[in-house]
Amino acid sequence: MCGIVGYVGRQGCAEILLDGLGKLEYRGYDSAGIAIGVEDGSVQTVRAEGKLKNLQRAYYQAPFEGLVGLGHTRWATHGSPTESNAHPHRAGRVIIAHNGIIENYASLKEELLASGRTFESATDTEVVAHLIDRELEKNPDLSLHQATQNMLALIEGSYALVIMSTSNPDELIVARHASPMVIGLGEDEYFAASDIPAVLAHTRQFIFLEDGQTAILRRDGLQIFDEQGNSVEMTPRRINWDPISAEKQGYKHFMLKEIFEQPARIADTLRGRLSKELDDVILSEVDISKEWLANVQKIVIVACGTSYWAAQISKHMIERHARIAVECDLASEFRYRDPVLDENTLCVAISQSGETADTLAAMRMAQELGAKTLGICNVVESTIAREANGVLYTHAGPEIGVASTKAFSTQLIASALLAIWLGRRRGNLDAQGASELIQTLRTVPNAMEKILLDAEQYESIAPDFADAQSFLFLGRGPQHIIANEGALKLKEISYIHAEGYAAGELKHGPIALIDEHLPIVVIATKDRVYDKVVSNLEEVKARGGRVIAVVTEGDNHVVNFAEKVFFVPDAHEFIQPILTVVSMQLLSYYIADFKGTDVDQPRNLAKSVTVE
Ligand code: M6R
Repeated sequence: MCGIVGYVGRQGCAEILLDGLGKLEYRGYDSAGIAIGVEDGSVQTVRAEGKLKNLQRAYYQAPFEGLVGLGHTRWATHGSPTESNAHPHRAGRVIIAHNGIIENYASLKEELLASGRTFESATDTEVVAHLIDRELEKNPDLSLHQATQNMLALIEGSYALVIMSTSNPDELIVARHASPMVIGLGEDEYFAASDIPAVLAHTRQFIFLEDGQTAILRRDGLQIFDEQGNSVEMTPRRINWDPISAEKQGYKHFMLKEIFEQPARIADTLRGRLSKELDDVILSEVDISKEWLANVQKIVIVACGTSYWAAQISKHMIERHARIAVECDLASEFRYRDPVLDENTLCVAISQSGETADTLAAMRMAQELGAKTLGICNVVESTIAREANGVLYTHAGPEIGVASTKAFSTQLIASALLAIWLGRRRGNLDAQGASELIQTLRTVPNAMEKILLDAEQYESIAPDFADAQSFLFLGRGPQHIIANEGALKLKEISYIHAEGYAAGELKHGPIALIDEHLPIVVIATKDRVYDKVVSNLEEVKARGGRVIAVVTEGDNHVVNFAEKVFFVPDAHEFIQPILTVVSMQLLSYYIADFKGTDVDQPRNLAKSVTVE
């Protein structure tokens, strides 16, 4: 939910920290701050409410420099988004940045207050700084690492922590439990970060800290410890991401860049996963017994937000081509009901970040009930990816825009691969059937390019619809799910209320909303329910609604009912949703951009929701 970056080494680190925070702003931007150990042995801090640029302004008014430091960009949970609640927090000699929630902070705070300590913020985090400082006060010979270990025994909840102290000015302590934390390895320097892009400009060697682990980072070495404090060896992994792939590359917003990147990322997600004969799917990285998977009785998919709509499309694909019953659940609901699953169930957790708290908890619950789990994740080595029995990575690359685009389309590709793979193993798809689906999947990048060539048309209609108070999105079958995703996209970035609805349900209620002011986006592609959708469209038109239709190239009929028509290439039903979602993304993007909203970092949202 928040972003952390830390540095210890041979360079002045202010720029490294500020630059790293820029790459992490997608995780939260309510406030930001940095702390750096300066030459006289003290630690200097600067913090600012709001976005990173406020912090930069404050820093450059009175810059300071040093070889050890940490930074934080905040998404507020406990305490309002003010400067006093901004991290780093300090208690005595201890300065910390935290991502997560300390669940028992209230009782700890009471105890610390009773012992005479004073608090400067309303955050849960400040207790952590006090607890470590208290340990060091009680026993001045204690190392900062040992004091941290003692503190960790007292707190409950989730944390990624970077800690420094005026009494140990040459080191950083890092701790992780249920919040992401990576360590970057340089030459005579180490980095700590919530996510790889924050420090990718400086190193490609990373260690992915595991839950319960802590680390000491010093210029001359790195030590990692398990929960019991035993030293552990971890092998670094090389990350080959291109650092500039995390930049905007000339696009006005990351979201637009990520929309346009989709054909390439889809090709990446397919790469190496199709058999030479193009009649089967290779899922060698899915580390679950193929025999077990082939005989699975039921599949339950858990996810949140956009990933939940990917789950729903996945259900359509798997049920149709592998004939296995699939249930989809919002992860936040699943974990609080009594789902029926057992050792013959596969639970699939779909998550771009692999860190969404509800999805992770739902997956863990399924594991406890005996189910095997498969993560469909984008972020390599994220918690869901590591804890699931198997993982099918999407290769979308870093997604920076808060609104999910390329992560979604690649989730659909991964789902399609899974459906074909299961269909083959269960005898529901023969080589020819699989080949037809695989061939059609391979046409997606080109077909998508064609839609992207029409981007200007979406831009041109934005002024006509940007004043709307509300939108309705309609579709049937998988396109009903895309209608829901379209509505989610529009509301999160343009702040216009929007609702997705199954077109066949229109007459059961929402038809009452229709008047000459309500824009209604109707997805009416040529598929097995096309005629039904056209009937629904006529119902809308008869009541004066403003129709924006998304139809198959060459459809001259729907033009008669619509104020505006967008064409998508004629395609196999299997891939149609993967194409029409691009229409939804472009429509939402250009309306939001016309309105001038903060497209990449919409208000109140965060990219990775690591709290309930
Ligand atoms: O990282 P995840 O895929 O688990 O994230 C789930 C949702 O928070 C995410 O899809 C959210 O709904 C997006 N902002 C939608 O664009």
